[in-house]
Amino acid sequence: MRDSGQALVTAPVWDAMVRVFHWSLVSLFVIAVITGEIGGNAIQVHMWCGYGILTLVLFRVVWGFVGGEYARFTSFVASPMRALKFARGMLGKSHEYVTGHNPIGGWMVIALLLLLATQAGLGLFSYDEISTSGPLARYVSEETSITLMKRHRLIGDVLLILAGLHIAAVLFHLFVKGENLVRAMFTGQKSLPPALAAQASTARRGSIPLGVAVLGVAIATVAVIVNWPALFK
Ligand code: HEM
Ligand code: HEM
Repeated sequence: MRDSGQALVTAPVWDAMVRVFHWSLVSLFVIAVITGEIGGNAIQVHMWCGYGILTLVLFRVVWGFVGGEYARFTSFVASPMRALKFARGMLGKSHEYVTGHNPIGGWMVIALLLLLATQAGLGLFSYDEISTSGPLARYVSEETSITLMKRHRLIGDVLLILAGLHIAAVLFHLFVKGENLVRAMFTGQKSLPPALAAQASTARRGSIPLGVAVLGVAIATVAVIVNWPALFK
């Protein structure tokens, strides 16, 4: 907790892999939503974005176990009681600084990752009743892949709502609480009260070579999934 007026110190929080993951995800998500809505020939680009997002989510799940301190699930998955207490404080006048994701933001990260993985998974098995089917649609009946496409459209809407809430929360921090989380997601450095900054400065760093290796494995895994029918006829 911090009283307004206390001096803040910058300290490294987001490792490079988290930052690359986030801004790549945002770019692919925006293109996927636009091309999904346009349909027609744009669906080819849409599918590539979907494979990219699946790769990023796979990477992020593993990075949540082996990445830098604040990338780890153990650092930001809080109990519902803790999340409630945090929300109450934030809606009032006080402002609780946290080193990584706050207890509410942590649950939003989990929800977004789960829904993005589900959405990409549904896309793989879907058939849109016009001309496009996902690469794995042949492994389920036509009726099932049409139903999965309906779910894909539904989850697309849910994801848009969650992304909207996520962006609204970031703007709330900026304009109401005066904390710029967006800059931190670009630079990796967060402005924190001295005690938290000292903690962050000595926290476990993410290893870039390990991150690149995990990303490589995620790319290979998605390539195998997408090309499964050709590889294992
Ligand atoms: C321009 C729009 C966006 C901005 C400005 C933005 C900003 C941010 C910021 C500042 C954080 C860190 C929050 C914190 O300090 O706890 C964050 C985290 C995150 N955002 Fe966004 N975001 C945007 C769009 C999106 C979209 C569209 C998605 C996905 C659909 C998304 C998914 C995530 C995820 C998964 C994290 C957690 C990052 C990690 O721990 O790896 N964001 N975002
Ligand atoms: C997480 C990644 C993905 C996101 C966020 C996403 C999102 C969307 C959205 C918002 C739409 C528009 C739905 C509407 O018309 O209301 C859509 C449509 C579509 N998506 Fe995805 N999608 C993803 C991955 C995939 C993948 C991997 C595939 C196939 C391999 C796929 C195949 C399709 C098809 C064929 C449509 C057209 C549906 C139609 O004809 O209306 N998507 N998607």
